[in-house]
Amino acid sequence: ASKTSSESLEKYKDEISGLPHGNGWSPSQHLCLHKGFWFYPHFLQGVLHARDHFKAKPNDVFICSSMKTGCTWIKSLCFLIATRTQFDDSTSPLRTTVPHDCIPFLEYGEYYTEAGPKTPLFASHLPYTCLPESVIDLGCKIVYLCRDPKDTYVSMWHFFRKVVATIAPGQEDLFVPIEEGFGLFCKGMSSYGPYWEHVLGYWKASLERPNKILFFKYEDLKKETEACVRKLAEFLECPFSIEEEREGTVQNIIKFCSFESLSNLEVNKTGKQVKRDKFVENNIYFRKGKVGDWRNYLSAEMGERLDNIIEEKLSGSGMTF
Ligand code: A3P
Repeated sequence: ASKTSSESLEKYKDEISGLPHGNGWSPSQHLCLHKGFWFYPHFLQGVLHARDHFKAKPNDVFICSSMKTGCTWIKSLCFLIATRTQFDDSTSPLRTTVPHDCIPFLEYGEYYTEAGPKTPLFASHLPYTCLPESVIDLGCKIVYLCRDPKDTYVSMWHFFRKVVATIAPGQEDLFVPIEEGFGLFCKGMSSYGPYWEHVLGYWKASLERPNKILFFKYEDLKKETEACVRKLAEFLECPFSIEEEREGTVQNIIKFCSFESLSNLEVNKTGKQVKRDKFVENNIYFRKGKVGDWRNYLSAEMGERLDNIIEEKLSGSGMTF
């Protein structure tokens, strides 16, 4: 496993400090604008490092998503699909390793992991136009996952509130109230936002190169999980054989990756990851895993407001939520 050293990330501090700043939802962090998208400076260091140093190989596959759209889930599905001849159910690294350590994020500077050396799978929250050039030039395959913006926002708000409580204890009370954060999200000001631009970038690319970019919605993954998993396996060039179909491999993979099963694994219940020299609990990646949970936190008017913004921003693209 190779991990990018903190010194090699530090050198991007000057470039980043010169960028326009914006409200980062809490007093302890701000967002900065790079190529039309908002990033937390800490992640942007990794983004710029990947831009300068990451060289994709033609067979690499990238699992891309904006934050909180269900990447933990789709990563787990892809990992199990792609490694099913390497490991069986009881030996899969997913049993003992948080999904994010099975398929690393480019922008954390973690390009290779112990878990899946034979599996050229990478993950990224980067917008399409910010991916390292080699990914596009080589025509690497990309799986993209998006989610209803209202649920995405609510999930993100809970996530960052928990992160702040972990990395800046005592500051969680200063974290943005849900209504105010919603206003920022609607203005496009969120990690890797504007959310709709993130979605549009991959959507358009998927129309241009449908055999290279497979586009999913969280809600469809929930509704038609089997069909989506078969599509994923074909896309990853390891379709299920007749025998596997007969043995229920598809259903087993889905069961293993279900919210209930993944979130109840010991590693995901009580394990921790080091982030920014602080420990983040793995259970932060598992909250409810439901469609429509936004209704418990946002008013119908707020929902309508965001729906209208999204409709306008996506109009003419053919993409709808
Ligand atoms: P909620 O906060 O709405 O519960 P990401 O993985 O991109 O960080 O997204 C996190 C969201 O996906 C969270 O949504 C989380 O609960 C949900 N999630 C995590 N694992 C899941 C799974 N196996 N199936 C469905 N949803 C899952």
